[in-house]
Amino acid sequence: MQFLPIFLNVRAQTCLVVGGGDVAYRKAVLLDRAGARLRVVAPEICVELESLVIAGAGELRVRGFDELDMDGVFLAVGATDDEEVNAAVSVAAKSRGLPVNVVDKPSLCSFIVPAIVDRSPVVIAISSGGASPVLTRKLKEKLETMVPAAYGRLALLLGGYRSRVKSVITDFKRRTRFWEALLSGPLSEMVLSGKEDEARRYIEQQLSESDSIVVQGEVFLVGAGPGDPDLLTLKALRLMQEADVVLYDRLVSKEIMARVRPDAEKINVGKERSNHLVPQEQINDLLVRLAQEGKKVLRLKGGDPFIFGRGGEEIDSLAEARIPFQVIPGITAASGCACYAGIPLTHRDCSQSVRFVTGHLKNDTIDLDWPNLANENQTVVFYMGLVGLETICEQLIAHGMAADMPIALVQQGTTPNQKVITGTLETMPAIVKMTEVQAPTIIIVGRVVKLQQRYSWFKGSNLV
Ligand SMILES: C[S@@+](CC[C@H](N)C(=O)[O-])C[C@H]1O[C@@H](n2cnc3c(N)ncnc32)[C@H](O)[C@@H]1O
Repeated sequence: MQFLPIFLNVRAQTCLVVGGGDVAYRKAVLLDRAGARLRVVAPEICVELESLVIAGAGELRVRGFDELDMDGVFLAVGATDDEEVNAAVSVAAKSRGLPVNVVDKPSLCSFIVPAIVDRSPVVIAISSGGASPVLTRKLKEKLETMVPAAYGRLALLLGGYRSRVKSVITDFKRRTRFWEALLSGPLSEMVLSGKEDEARRYIEQQLSESDSIVVQGEVFLVGAGPGDPDLLTLKALRLMQEADVVLYDRLVSKEIMARVRPDAEKINVGKERSNHLVPQEQINDLLVRLAQEGKKVLRLKGGDPFIFGRGGEEIDSLAEARIPFQVIPGITAASGCACYAGIPLTHRDCSQSVRFVTGHLKNDTIDLDWPNLANENQTVVFYMGLVGLETICEQLIAHGMAADMPIALVQQGTTPNQKVITGTLETMPAIVKMTEVQAPTIIIVGRVVKLQQRYSWFKGSNLV
């Protein structure tokens, strides 16, 4: 993060704007809306800006900038079309330890002014750290259409009940549940459709029944997909925002973790091949214990929790302890990697079925149903197969599969680091030995792999 997002209270504080044109006017309007007292300095000041300053009982200094203009100032904005003056404003402010913004010059700024979606008291601030104001504007346009105008009214209504709810429901967890239940119910819709009296009656009624609120823990076993955060399901995203605590695996990327509720406790329970940071039994026990403490626990797993994810074992402990849980599917690696690599797993010209198989070595052998896997009319996807790749290729050939059967190794699929290596059962072990391979990887065997060159669309690297 290049800049720390904060909301500054400038009410009744003197804020200096150096500049008298349109750009200065736009900054002054924002400061004025936030209750600042304006001090505007410029040899010429446009009529709109002049009227704004006068209406807010601010100060107009119709002359060039002088360092003494910084006296008594809370923050400064340089908004002239003269680079030297803007630079002088920046230097003078910084030497006094004052926050300073120079329009369109991030290098001269100690703060930047974000694009905002204003539903006061709810304000959404958006910034690209100065990288692309147009992108920021596009995002703002999207949010403007998504956040109803009446959100401000909803926030004001809720704000009005805050201290009352606090005195009626003194326990923090029960209070949080109360607010969550309120906002998941019909209340928002009542306010958004203008029925505020009805909304107040509803809150009163819920408050009078608040004794019956039971803080019950729950576990959400959620599939986070193969890596690209845009492949999260809507339900996964919603539950990621609700959780009090998150247990996550190595396969869950930091981009996905960034979408979890920021104040949720985050516990890395690891899980690498033969290096489980926290052993499975302890994960199962931890889930039970945290839920028994009344927490909403998010168990976030790579891909789909029920596909080579030991999700079954985890919910078994929960079922045993009678803890409520939900299981949310995720896009499994086979599906995500095949799509992003351009390999249609069951293209009907080449394959009538697809099998997901673990290639995890047990006692240095892979104990698989080789005669059935060597069927040439199907596609076989091996999870955790990199270490056993040579054995997989040998065994498939030994059980009758053509040595020139196409095979692909997709590494870090669906992420910007995705690489696709293709070859045949005969050539692949040697190709992989010569290549630096980064986990996780998935192996796809079958005629469908031939289509990869034609259908490749995702901008990763293709190594043939
Ligand atoms: C323990 S399994 C978990 C599978 C997960 N539950 C799923 O549904 O995708 C881990 C294996 O999934 C595969 N995998 C997961 N994410 C992957 C990715 N982004 N690219 C390639 N393979 C991946 C690798 O074979 C890795 O060894």
